[in-house]
Amino acid sequence: MKIAVLKEAAAGERRVSATPETVKKFVALGAEVAVEANAGLDASIADQAYADMGAAIGDRAGTLKDADIVLGVQGPDPASLKGAKPGAWIVAGLNPFGERARVDAYASGGFEALAMEFMPRITRAQSMDILSSQSNLSGYKAVLDAAAEYGRAFPMMMTAAGTVSAAKAFVMGVGVAGLQAIATARRLGAQVSATDVRAATREQILSLGAKPIFVEAVQGIEGEGAGGYATEMSDEYKAAQAELVSAHIAKQDIVITTALIPGRAAPRLISDAQIASMKPGSVIVDLAVEAGGNVEGAVAGEIVERHGVKIVGHRNVPSRLAADASALFARNLFNFLSAFWDKEQGKPVLDEEIGNAIRLTQGGKVVHERLL
Ligand code: NAI
Repeated sequence: MKIAVLKEAAAGERRVSATPETVKKFVALGAEVAVEANAGLDASIADQAYADMGAAIGDRAGTLKDADIVLGVQGPDPASLKGAKPGAWIVAGLNPFGERARVDAYASGGFEALAMEFMPRITRAQSMDILSSQSNLSGYKAVLDAAAEYGRAFPMMMTAAGTVSAAKAFVMGVGVAGLQAIATARRLGAQVSATDVRAATREQILSLGAKPIFVEAVQGIEGEGAGGYATEMSDEYKAAQAELVSAHIAKQDIVITTALIPGRAAPRLISDAQIASMKPGSVIVDLAVEAGGNVEGAVAGEIVERHGVKIVGHRNVPSRLAADASALFARNLFNFLSAFWDKEQGKPVLDEEIGNAIRLTQGGKVVHERLL
C-alpha cells in the first residue's frame, strides 16, 4: 500500500496534505509513503522532516509510481497522475461543482476520486471534516486581516493622551468561521455583534459574549436545512434582514461576512448603498468572495476601496496560515483513512455511509448522485 503526497500545483496554494506527524502514523499502519520534493516548503516543512519519519522523497513520477492513494489539498490535474495504480484513490478537496471537467477526467482515467468536502456532518466524521478545520482558521485570519487594514485599534485604550475607543465588529454568518471570528475579535477587544439565518446560533453568539442581531418580526423562520446548513430564505425574510442590517451596519467599523449556502452562490448580504452608509476607514472582509461574494463590489484576490471603505477579498484564506492549516488538513486525511484501515488487507475499506457520501468516480464513471 503506497500513499503519494503531491506538491500542490494551484497558484497561491501554500498548504500540503501530509505532515511529518501523519507520515509517521501512516508508516506505523504499514503504509509506504512517498512525498514529492518541496511539497511542504510553503508550509514550513522541509523534505528532511518527512524523510526522518520514513517517507521517500522524490520527483513527481517517482512519488506517483504504483501509488494506491494520492493525497492532495486541492484536486491534482488528472493529466499529471501518470504512474499511479489503476483504480488509485485521489483524496483531496476536489471542488466537485467548480471543477466538473476534472471530475470527469478522474473517471475516464480510472481513478476513484474521494471529495473530502462532501464528508457528512455526523459525529464520527467530525475529525475528518476539512471544511470545519479550514473554516476555523479562516475565521481567525479574517479578523487579523481586518485589523491589519484598519487604521485604528481594536481595543479601548485609556492613555495619557486620551481614550481610544473600541472597534465595533459585526460578523455575518455564524458557522464555524463566524464563531471563530467572533471569538478572535473579542480577544482583540472589539465590541462584537453577529447575525445568522439559523436561529440556533443566537445562543452560540451570546455564549461568546457577543450581541445577536436577529430578524424578529417575521414568523416561522428557522433557516436550518439538511446537515445543519443554511437554506435559502423567503423574500419577506430577506427584506426584513436587509432593513435590520442597514441600520446596524452604518455604525460598524469592521464587518466580517462568512455566509455560504451549499451548492449555490453565496447570498448577497451587503449592498453598495450600505457600504456608502459606513464610516470612511471601515473594513469589510468577505470570506465568501470565491463563492460569488456576500458583499457587492468585493473582488476575489483583491482589496478594493468603495466610498472610503476597504473590502478585503483574499482568496484561499486557510493557505495564508499554511503551517497550521496543513497540520489540521493532514490530520483530517489521516483520521479518515485510519478509521477505515483494514489490518488484514493492509488498506482502507470504506463503509457505505461515508463511501457513498464522498466517492465521485468509480469504475470509469462518475457515480455521485449530486453530479449525475
Ligand atoms: P457554512 O460555511 O455553510 O455557512 C456559514 C454560515 O452562514 C452558516 O452559519 C449559515 O447559516 C450562514 N448563512 C447562510 N446564509 C445566510 C444569510 N443569508 N444571512 C446570514 N447568515 C447566513 O456553514 P458551516 O460553517 O459549515 O456550518 C454550518 C453548520 O454545520 C453549523 O451549525 C456547524 O456547527 C455545523 N457543523 C457540524 C459538524 C458536524 O457535526 N460534523 C461539523 C462542522 C459544522
